[in-house]
Amino acid sequence: MSIPKKRPLSSQGRTTHYFDPEPPAPSRRRPVFLHLPGLDLELQADRGVFGSRGVDLGTLTLLKEAPAPPARGDILDLGAGYGPIAIAVARRSPAAQVWAVDVNQRALELTRANAEAADTPNVKAVEPDAVPAALRFSAIYSNPPVRIGKAAMHELLMRWLPRLEPGAAAYLVVQRNLGSDSLAAWLGTQGFEVTRLKSKKGYRILEVTLLPG
Ligand SMILES: C[S@@+](CC[C@H](N)C(=O)[O-])C[C@H]1O[C@@H](n2cnc3c(N)ncnc32)[C@H](O)[C@@H]1O
Repeated sequence: MSIPKKRPLSSQGRTTHYFDPEPPAPSRRRPVFLHLPGLDLELQADRGVFGSRGVDLGTLTLLKEAPAPPARGDILDLGAGYGPIAIAVARRSPAAQVWAVDVNQRALELTRANAEAADTPNVKAVEPDAVPAALRFSAIYSNPPVRIGKAAMHELLMRWLPRLEPGAAAYLVVQRNLGSDSLAAWLGTQGFEVTRLKSKKGYRILEVTLLPG
């Protein structure tokens, strides 16, 4: 995740966040480019949505360094934004169903439009409560919303990580300066095995699995 130098203010003078359900800034879409080995995509981003100035370095690091997604099953992108992770995963695993979950309505609309333009009908962009409760995930990929605060992040992860299928893994990218190591340690106390797969350019890629039992 990148750290904005100053927080934008809405026209009412209140601080805005990329996780506002309805971003107050008027929409102004702009293209961003996702370049990965074997995949070049032009996606639309927008004001009020994370990464609107270009694909986030953490996201890029996750997509380059995490293991390839499983070929099948239900895969979760937790905090999808305009959809770069969900769409790249869906391209790599066309037979899988990718759930792109976000609370920001503008982000969900962008992900739907981007998925259609990228020819990935296996992306489903929905609010968290719209994911069927019985669903279990063959993998989770996420650049999680660290900015929501520690307690909310913990709650968010405890909502979704226990929904991994047995033996499946979650791949999280977290900036070292934003607490990746303390997050890894905390997950270790919550019944997960955490491996630091990669440390690059200030980002950690964490692999998280459920401990048996
Ligand atoms: C760091 S951004 C990553 C966005 C996108 N995946 C990317 O890589 O550019 C985290 C995203 O999580 C979303 N988010 C915040 N709270 C959430 C929640 N409770 N459930 C799902 N998504 C949430 C934010 O709106 C934001 O789009």
